[in-house]
Amino acid sequence: MNVKIFTLFPPMFAPLRESIMGRAEKKGLVSFDVVNIRDYAADPHFADDTVYGGGAGMVMKPEPVMNALRAKGWRPGAKVIVTTPAGKPFTQREAARLAAEEELFIVAGHYEGLDQRVVDLTAAEEFSVGDYVLTGGELPAMVMTDAIVRLIDGVLGDSASLEQESFTEGLLEYPQYTRPRVYEGRAVPDVLFCGDHRVIESWRREQSLRRTFENRPDLLEKLPLSAAERAAAAELDEKAREKVPVYAALVHHPVLDPKGKTITTSVTNLDIHDIARAGRAYDLRGYFIVQPGAEQKELTKNLLSYWTEGHGSKVNPDRKEALSIVSVVDGLADAENAVAEREGEKPLLVGTSAKIRPNIVSYEELRRVMAGERRCFLLVFGTGHGLTEETMARMDYVLKPIAGRGDYNHLSVRSAVSITLDRLLGRGLS
Ligand SMILES: C[S@@+](CC[C@H](N)C(=O)[O-])C[C@H]1O[C@@H](n2cnc3c(N)ncnc32)[C@H](O)[C@@H]1O
Repeated sequence: MNVKIFTLFPPMFAPLRESIMGRAEKKGLVSFDVVNIRDYAADPHFADDTVYGGGAGMVMKPEPVMNALRAKGWRPGAKVIVTTPAGKPFTQREAARLAAEEELFIVAGHYEGLDQRVVDLTAAEEFSVGDYVLTGGELPAMVMTDAIVRLIDGVLGDSASLEQESFTEGLLEYPQYTRPRVYEGRAVPDVLFCGDHRVIESWRREQSLRRTFENRPDLLEKLPLSAAERAAAAELDEKAREKVPVYAALVHHPVLDPKGKTITTSVTNLDIHDIARAGRAYDLRGYFIVQPGAEQKELTKNLLSYWTEGHGSKVNPDRKEALSIVSVVDGLADAENAVAEREGEKPLLVGTSAKIRPNIVSYEELRRVMAGERRCFLLVFGTGHGLTEETMARMDYVLKPIAGRGDYNHLSVRSAVSITLDRLLGRGLS
């Protein structure tokens, strides 16, 4: 394979001459040609220019890049790859597909990126190496070259190692061990010494499943797992979410009135009882009523003590159990502090709103976050016309609004709580 890389910074590609890449070139399995785009600019100091339409930074001019590509043998139909955070994700599957090409032209963007006409004229595939922005496309170009070249026949000594790697089957690789058998008091798992390859194989598959579940649960959904593996993954999911400490807060202040003014709303008996019962059913560790009003607080505390300590607790122990998770606090910060005291860390705040907002997460996404993150969560619900902008701005996540079948979206907050708890913590219909 001939890999031709186009860059403004050729020295950054020195690592291609080292280790496995370097040996592959020496063996003649691949050739690298690192091309300085400046050599093809009318003036080497002007390979980039300001952005049409306004905006910060500089854009790489099309002529030097196209001149360089043509000089190095590009013709329509040849495979061109452009590095950009706006590209599709570069995956193992893409690497395997590209490893079959005879010739690759890889253009490393820099500054604010490439003039779009280079992409259009060459019908380039745009790839991103991750959801973050790097200063230039040199490292992504090198990352992609490495991932592609090592899949070319003969580049790696033992091609069996390719078959067992992370992503080859869609799962992440199982943990690996080598000598010594015990290191700093930690022993290699006994199963690896049992001598039975089928037993070792099944242990490794189980470890892969567990690791994928913990680090990349998103991958599991795309995999053709056996029924037993699906059941094991569902059990891991169940267990992970069971352990996640989740709390809820019902905010009476500060909230908005219909005109957008900040107000304090009154507590309602229905919200206290119904949210506590739903909270108990879905295993909330606590339900905070955020109410700074002295009389309102007094009223709520009296009501709670009737059910948790007074006559109500004797006639209806189930209600006592539910209302035992409730406490009254002055502000959301007090709820956070109470959680922090109990869990040893501040909770991640999850906001809810009936309005579409930027950066909202779906229930599915938050379920995954909950299963993956070893953190505690505080779900924050507003009364009145919802939480204020300042409160929303403090949220780590904001959930998508609950959508019914029509355009009427004035759910009572206790209905919204129940629906939210079921979507996030429920076992579903199975
Ligand atoms: C500072 S970035 C430009 C970012 C660009 N303005 C944007 O917001 O999408 C400069 C160059 O680095 C490369 N780059 C940065 N992050 C990347 C990533 N995650 N994947 C692939 N290339 C990346 C691209 O070649 C890009 O043109």
